[in-house]
Amino acid sequence: MVKIDGYGDNLTVNGVRIGDLSPADHEKIEKQKGGQNYSPLENVVVSHVKDSSTLICRKPSNNSIEAFVEEELLDGLCCYSAVNQGQLNTTIVDAVIAHLQNEKLPTVPRSIRHKYMSAFLLASTAFTGMDRVVPKVAGVESWELTFKLCRRWGQFVKGIPENECLVIGATGNFHGRSLSAVSMSDDPDSRKGFGPFVPGIELVPYNDFDALKDLFERKGEKIAAFSVEPIQGEAGVIVPDDDYWPKVSKLCKEHNILLAFDEVQTGFGRTGENFAHQLYNVKPDIMGCGKAAGGGILPVSFVAGRDDVIGTLTPGSEGSTFGGYPLASVVGIYAIKTLIEENLAQNAKIRGAQLMAHFENLKNDFPDKIKEVRGKGLLTAFEMHDSEKLDGHKVSMELLNNGIYAKETHHSTVRIAPALTITEEHVNILGEKIRLVISNL
Ligand SMILES: Cc1ncc(COP(=O)(O)O)c(C=O)c1O
Repeated sequence: MVKIDGYGDNLTVNGVRIGDLSPADHEKIEKQKGGQNYSPLENVVVSHVKDSSTLICRKPSNNSIEAFVEEELLDGLCCYSAVNQGQLNTTIVDAVIAHLQNEKLPTVPRSIRHKYMSAFLLASTAFTGMDRVVPKVAGVESWELTFKLCRRWGQFVKGIPENECLVIGATGNFHGRSLSAVSMSDDPDSRKGFGPFVPGIELVPYNDFDALKDLFERKGEKIAAFSVEPIQGEAGVIVPDDDYWPKVSKLCKEHNILLAFDEVQTGFGRTGENFAHQLYNVKPDIMGCGKAAGGGILPVSFVAGRDDVIGTLTPGSEGSTFGGYPLASVVGIYAIKTLIEENLAQNAKIRGAQLMAHFENLKNDFPDKIKEVRGKGLLTAFEMHDSEKLDGHKVSMELLNNGIYAKETHHSTVRIAPALTITEEHVNILGEKIRLVISNL
């Protein structure tokens, strides 16, 4: 049996009150009872929110491993860009509370219409500039559905024979953890032991136009789509050449191949535009959105696309119990409202330029340590030279000791992607703390 009581620190499960647990206790429970698919930063446990960019965390006390102290942590990652609107954005939280308490929000599936779906579809199609939207839940599900729709369009509209359809991806991609997504991945850690993989996928080097052109010329008739991130996030913020997407978009049109963007991480203002493709003046035929589509409050994702692509769906061919259910619809609508009314893309542009200036100075002052700095808007990263001394994990730990939460991607790259609500003062703190840590390496 299990007995559960209380809220917050008083939340008690079978006599264990979470407010009494030390960071070491949390680690022990996670190691004993959880799957070991993450290696979280050591000796720190997040407790609650102080302001839109600041978390309160618990660290072991100097006196006793059994006890903890609370410290502020500036959130340099904002849940991998899921919290673009800032932690506990008041507009979104108020909308959730008002709808649950006053509007008596129901929970119903899609087999019966609910009134909030229309509002969500109106808001999301207007925001994306797309003909149609299909709601899902996790980011990977939006990518998975774009993948399926590309195949369906390939067969039903383009006329590729059944089971012969190809979808092209890019090296270094990250689209999530479903079997199709890891079938497209070239990261050995995410693939090992999970085969056999989904067929009909080929990769070209990211940002290599000639390789794509060559592949399209050889196999274009069987290719339904090029399915790709406009800027690669998990790969370490890889920004393609300015002319890459305009050239790719034109090439796709010439070969009647869909351009399918994964904007799960780059969308919702992150790169200084509402969607990263707007930086390049191109429009995908279909795209997946997630993360900040739920305002950092609920997992909300969706696929937005052209009429003839999403139009290939038929009743029974797709579905999701919680995709677009009333609460997700309300959160999705208010995530969009906040992004627009708080000018978050514009703030990402301004604060991103400020952060990149810190990085550029750092690179100039420590050319032996910093190899490259990259970014668009507030999706930024610095890459260190590949050496044992310049270890990304060590940097993350040292940043943590200095009150900053950031995490390395790969050995020598550290991504910094704070909330788009971040203040000028907080960006300067980020820049100064990073400088302190790098100078001491
Ligand atoms: C580009 C991209 N696509 C898809 C995903 C998967 O999203 P989720 O973890 O919500 O399934 C991520 C997550 O980091 C991502 O960065």
